[in-house]
Amino acid sequence: MPALSILALALAPLLVNGQLSGSVGPLTSAHSKAATKTCNILDYGAVADNTTDIGSPLSEAWDACSDGGLIYIPPGDYAMDTWVSLSGGKATAIILDGTIYRTGTDGGNMILVENSSDFELYSNSSSGAVQGFGYVYHREGDLDGPRILRLQDVSNFAVHDIILVDAPAFHFVMDDCSDGEVYNMAIRGGNSGGLDGIDVWGSNIWVHDVEVTNKDECVTVKSPANNILVESIYCNWSGGCAMGSLGADTDITDILYRNVYTWSSNQMYMIKSNGGSGTVKNTLLENFIGHGNAYSLDIDSYWSSMTAVDGDGVELSNITFKN
Ligand SMILES: *[C@@H]1O[C@H](CO)[C@@H](O)[C@H](O)[C@H]1NC(C)=O
Ligand SMILES: *[C@@H]1O[C@H](CO)[C@@H](O)[C@H](O)[C@H]1NC(C)=O
Ligand SMILES: *[C@@H]1O[C@H](CO)[C@@H](O)[C@H](O)[C@H]1NC(C)=O
Ligand SMILES: *[C@@H]1O[C@H](CO)[C@@H](O)[C@H](O)[C@H]1NC(C)=O
Ligand SMILES: *[C@@H]1O[C@H](CO)[C@@H](O)[C@H](O)[C@H]1NC(C)=O
Repeated sequence: MPALSILALALAPLLVNGQLSGSVGPLTSAHSKAATKTCNILDYGAVADNTTDIGSPLSEAWDACSDGGLIYIPPGDYAMDTWVSLSGGKATAIILDGTIYRTGTDGGNMILVENSSDFELYSNSSSGAVQGFGYVYHREGDLDGPRILRLQDVSNFAVHDIILVDAPAFHFVMDDCSDGEVYNMAIRGGNSGGLDGIDVWGSNIWVHDVEVTNKDECVTVKSPANNILVESIYCNWSGGCAMGSLGADTDITDILYRNVYTWSSNQMYMIKSNGGSGTVKNTLLENFIGHGNAYSLDIDSYWSSMTAVDGDGVELSNITFKN
């Protein structure tokens, strides 16, 4: 496995300098998954006519390849009218080289990947994108539309080189995931709260080289989380990066943010709670550059935008701010 040993060598310095606890990313390359089996969505009823619903063809292609294989979404324009829950994948990848346009109106998550291991979602041409048309909701003052992408209980994964535009709600959530890498992402949301860029909780996850334009969370860690490394992030007209909102039994440790550039945002970093319990510890924030932000650092333990939670407050200890 030469590819894996090169990966291990490349990661070795990070284990010393960063906060990761082990290697991250898929265990098998997309090429070897493709060699096992390739499920092209066009063979499962998808049509790149920007009208036919991609939902059930994508689910069927997933079912056919979820035990090991590559699901391929070729270049072209696809309408998404029904949402997908892609479950139980083992050694699976999805290449999104087309553009998916939201046409459906359900809440929830347009694309949910759950209970999967050795998973990769990426664009092989760097042009894969999802257009959420959030403005259709937002112009009515409605922030309750769907999120674009959620990974739940996914391990050894990577998401990279895709563009997420104008989510009705959050853009990308990682919920209880582990050993993952997210990189080369551009997120372009609306100018409003409630439209988070990336929210992450879980263990041993590296998020890097991401640009977020929105007006809420840029790349934010939630509880419980340990060994999360966030670096080389550009928050543009954003809420800024943050930790929280923190509630009862907060359990966050070994978090490192570095090389974060923040432009015209609410703040460069915020730690937010209102009551609650538990701890945030062993956290380092270093090399932040900001221009035109309302605040640089905002630690708010009585954050009025959240309802007070029972408890004496979340304890912050061994938090270092450098450069
Ligand atoms: C990605 O694209 C390159 C160039 O077109 C191609 O050679 C390669 O096979 C593609 N990879 C996969 C996994 O399809
Ligand atoms: C696809 O359809 C959407 C409306 O659902 C439209 O806004 C978009 O421009 C179309 N894409 C192309 C490439 O025509
Ligand atoms: C998770 O997926 C595996 C297959 O990979 C399956 O055996 C198991 O039942 C699934 N668990 C849940 C909770 O869905
Ligand atoms: C930053 O946000 C502003 C305001 O939304 C937008 O005009 C500009 O294109 C964004 N810059 C980048 C690099 O995305
Ligand atoms: C404080 O946190 C840093 C990581 O930011 C860690 O390396 C160090 O061991 C921690 N110190 C203590 C006393 O736990």
